[in-house]
Amino acid sequence: MSLKKISKEQPENFKFHSKNLEISENIVKKYPEGKQQSAVMALLYIAQRQNDNWIPLAAMKYIANLLKMPYIKVYEVATFYTMYNLSPVGKYHIQVCTTTPCMIRGANELVKICKKNISKNQNELSKNKNCSWVEVECLGACINAPMMQINNDYYEDLDNESAEKIIKQILENKSPKPGSYRGRKNSEPENNRKTLINLNDA
Ligand code: FES
Repeated sequence: MSLKKISKEQPENFKFHSKNLEISENIVKKYPEGKQQSAVMALLYIAQRQNDNWIPLAAMKYIANLLKMPYIKVYEVATFYTMYNLSPVGKYHIQVCTTTPCMIRGANELVKICKKNISKNQNELSKNKNCSWVEVECLGACINAPMMQINNDYYEDLDNESAEKIIKQILENKSPKPGSYRGRKNSEPENNRKTLINLNDA
């Protein structure tokens, strides 16, 4: 389970770039009058993308002002969800799923590989400051377990060898190929399907 760590070093100010402000205003407009606060998650996500993949406290205050809601409510949302990073992460941020299906297929080994190659603790930068990792709950790709997410891509059907190779590549600033590492397309059966072979029954 990951622990939310709020960075001790915080920028004093934050505001959206003009393009992000326009995107945010369009999102807010989609909500009925009086329900604009419901845009908080989308705005936090935009703030994270603008700020090198983490959300400073100043951004939460800025969003609270934009949505005319108490700062503490924005803080509650940002600290609850694991997809929001509250301290600097690497250019490559790895999320290792350790929920039951991934765990029984070897997720603990992936965690050990992250500890060995990136940093001993979660939410810490690697020595070259390029990479960080965190344990997360189910990422919805259980049928391709064990898996990990790196930035916006999924790396699936992993084993120790493939996971270590991927991590070494990103530490060298290379972009490994996302998808299944057992050659499957999405979650198709391996070695052809054994059921519903007659297409009339499919
Ligand atoms: S349990 Fe790992 S993706 Fe669902």
